[in-house]
Amino acid sequence: MISTFVTLLLCAIEVKAHGHVQGLTANGKFYEGYSPNFQYMNPKPKVPAWSAGGYGQGGITPDHFNTVDIACHDNPKPGEAYAEVTAGSKVKVHWTKWPDSHHGPILDYIAPCVGECTSAKPLQLKFTKIDQTGLMKPGGPSSYQFATDYLIKNNNTWEVTIPKSLKSGNYVLRNEIIALHTAGTVGGAQNYPQCFNLKVVGGGTASLPAGVPATQFYKPTTPGIVFNIAANLNSYTFPGPEVWKQ
Ligand SMILES: *[C@@H]1O[C@H](CO)[C@@H](O)[C@H](O)[C@H]1NC(C)=O
Repeated sequence: MISTFVTLLLCAIEVKAHGHVQGLTANGKFYEGYSPNFQYMNPKPKVPAWSAGGYGQGGITPDHFNTVDIACHDNPKPGEAYAEVTAGSKVKVHWTKWPDSHHGPILDYIAPCVGECTSAKPLQLKFTKIDQTGLMKPGGPSSYQFATDYLIKNNNTWEVTIPKSLKSGNYVLRNEIIALHTAGTVGGAQNYPQCFNLKVVGGGTASLPAGVPATQFYKPTTPGIVFNIAANLNSYTFPGPEVWKQ
């Protein structure tokens, strides 16, 4: 009886799902992403991915841009482990099947942890943007390509290079898709931020800029958050801070 209820509940979550990260590959090792199923397991798996609450698989809408949800998704809790990665190498983020219609950019941010990321407070994390990819091929709605289209072609995976000169240490990686399919009007964007604890090794000597809390990234009216993808597109203006130039 209870297990039927749990199964139904999980199915309900699944139906609502738009996407989340199901795994991460770093230094050749695969780390499972956070799954809501973990709460029914004993012992509960410890993974580098941060967990999210009730609407954990839908998008964060602009009315939540000034809340903790924009940091690492709905009511985020730190990952309980780390993925080790060598500075200068690529981390591969494995998303669940991304819907074709949800075109948009993919952005990556990194924040140093004061001490352990496993006890980090998401609003205290100061993020620096390390890369962003938007419109990859211009055109009309039937021919343009966004970063998400490239993600889908690559079996729903995305690679991010951890800056070679970054100092070794504990960091939170924040990989974010912004779905723009209903972003033509203010309030219509859907942000999908996902966070992971990284232990960066073999790093350099560059210090990150001061960084900003995620609540300062975007406003509901920021260009790139408001964006009409039903038009012929030549360019896309990225929202949020500048990319760090090492
Ligand atoms: C695509 O991703 C799925 C799910 O992560 C995986 O099981 C499958 O092996 C991948 N396929 C290829 C060709 O890499």
